[in-house]
Amino acid sequence: MIDLPEGFIYGGDYNPEQWLDEPGIIEKDIELMKKAGVNCVTLGVFSWAALERYEGHYSFDWLDKIIHTLYDNGIYTVLATPSGAKPVWLAKKYPQTLRVEKNGVRENYRGRHNHCMQSKIYRQKVGKIVTRLAERFGSDPAVILWHISNEFGGECYCDTCATAFREWLKKRYGTIERLNHEWWTAFWSHSFTSFDQIDPPYENGEYSIMGLLLDWRRFTTWSTLDYMKSEIDIIRKYSPDKPVTTNFMGCYDGLDYAELNEPLDVISFDSYPTWGNDSEPLWHTAAAASFDYAQMRGYRKQQPFLLMENTPCQTNWKAVNKLKRPGLQIMAGLQAVACGSDSVQYFQWRKSRGSMEQYHGAVVDHSGRDDTRVFKEVARLGEILESLKEIKGTSSFAKTAVIYDTQVRWAIDGMVGFRKYDMRYLENCQRWYRALLRYGIEADVVSTKDDLSDYSLVIAPMLYMTDDALNDKIRAFVKNGGVFAATHLTGYVNENTLNYLGGFPGELTDVFGIRNDETDALYPNDKNDLDISGRKYPIGGICELLTLAGAEELGTYDSDFYAGTPAFTVNSFGKGRAYYIAAELDDDGAQKVISSMFEKEKIKLSPLPEGIERHVRSGEDVDYVFYFNYSSGRRLVDDQTVEPMSVRIVRRKADGSVSLLF
Ligand code: GLA
Ligand code: ZN
Repeated sequence: MIDLPEGFIYGGDYNPEQWLDEPGIIEKDIELMKKAGVNCVTLGVFSWAALERYEGHYSFDWLDKIIHTLYDNGIYTVLATPSGAKPVWLAKKYPQTLRVEKNGVRENYRGRHNHCMQSKIYRQKVGKIVTRLAERFGSDPAVILWHISNEFGGECYCDTCATAFREWLKKRYGTIERLNHEWWTAFWSHSFTSFDQIDPPYENGEYSIMGLLLDWRRFTTWSTLDYMKSEIDIIRKYSPDKPVTTNFMGCYDGLDYAELNEPLDVISFDSYPTWGNDSEPLWHTAAAASFDYAQMRGYRKQQPFLLMENTPCQTNWKAVNKLKRPGLQIMAGLQAVACGSDSVQYFQWRKSRGSMEQYHGAVVDHSGRDDTRVFKEVARLGEILESLKEIKGTSSFAKTAVIYDTQVRWAIDGMVGFRKYDMRYLENCQRWYRALLRYGIEADVVSTKDDLSDYSLVIAPMLYMTDDALNDKIRAFVKNGGVFAATHLTGYVNENTLNYLGGFPGELTDVFGIRNDETDALYPNDKNDLDISGRKYPIGGICELLTLAGAEELGTYDSDFYAGTPAFTVNSFGKGRAYYIAAELDDDGAQKVISSMFEKEKIKLSPLPEGIERHVRSGEDVDYVFYFNYSSGRRLVDDQTVEPMSVRIVRRKADGSVSLLF
């Protein structure tokens, strides 16, 4: 937890380097920040060219002055290292810092977030500027947190990265024979006789080895982590007492955050849900946002995370950039808090005048006014957060987890079979999470690497890839009394994408007490249903044909040549139970399965009214219960009336007293 400021961190990305020659603008900004209740800004994310205009010529005085003028006005700084965007001089002089794309061609200078992670010269140049920043601000009381680079992502196919990939593979497999076995390269005669023969999966290169595709993505995470650590090492040396973060991007699938988070002190992330889109109800969009929050929370159990960016009104990079409707901005900020964030930060404080993001929402628009709808809502949320101060630092204690694992997602993406382009891994994970949310069940979203022992229920949709450690963990979890639910596509391959021999779900066959004999794929217009006690729930996509091997049947297929065969089962294993759902369900089906499981576990469950989302943060002897009503009607829940499009926050003390906080 970050102690300062006293209450929630409130503010956002501030880019004064764009306004250095506009007289009076900084003073104006500070005046407006105070009006909005802002107590923290993120500085320096894109300041490299202003901090080092020419190679080796550093000018930090302007930044120093801004940091301290802000501080004198009660505003703290999250200070970023500037490596997210490199200056032109650097790329021109050292072209090896530019990335090589999948087609093997080096990029021209452009954009941002696109340096080669393995470039020695880039690390040297970043090292110099980060050292100076850390020396100068490393123990400055105005700076409360280091923000490493910005939104890490992407891949590099340069020769340096290719060589590093080969080294990485050598470490992973030891011998080329072992790699050949794990990658099953006898297929199509693709066997390697030396590590030097292995290339990254170029656009016109190897696409048929699933293990290679998966390892390349693992390598990219390793390479990014390796790079990020090189910056963090410098910060730790000169600024040992200040915490370090980097901003993640929710369910971004280019990197495995379950590994990347390891050296960070605080988890932070940027949230840009597509609010108000025309393809789902608002509460679904909210549920997707809270899925992301639950994932961030999962990385540091029971510790608050930080919402590092969200827009106060609209983005500019989506197909349609709709304004957040009145009130939604406040709901979205409080939703982050409800799910465990100790901050609400915006991208961005002041709108750029030109370039890429001149139409991206900001607290202060081009008009520069403080009587805009957006500014007034931001100021209102500032007041609300001030009144909720006591909640800062409290935690969420979920007893349920949904496993969403980036590497499983990669393995499914790389797989060629069944429904090649439409396996919907993320969607299925979100669906099960959403079904829990409908019952008001708080769930963490965790990876396969996480400890499961604190949970009583774990749902793992489409757990296609497992390794020995995971198989053992699930086995122990159920044996010790846990309830574990898995769905179609569980336990097909090991960590290198080799199929389990002896039937699916591989090593977990006895835990579930079933054997999956065949996997059917349906066309969009094919119909089948899951029949649970005579009621039917539509299924689509994938249907697995099961044989019972100890499990009890809870539901069956309704039609086709496998009508009447098991599609939903439970198996007692040790002190716990393992449920299996053999086909892809929709929301109603997932909810029904959850209620059947709870019935079986003798736990009473009733759904929240439609459109309501509930979260709880707990402190010592006190729970803070947040209710969000995303519907257009008034809702009654837990004796609380929640008006349409509004939030209600209740303080419940251990002595039984209940009071309304907001
Ligand atoms: C990301 C970046 C910001 C900005 C926003 C726009 O989150 O970190 O610099 O570009 O997107 O939504
Ligand atoms: Zn590279």
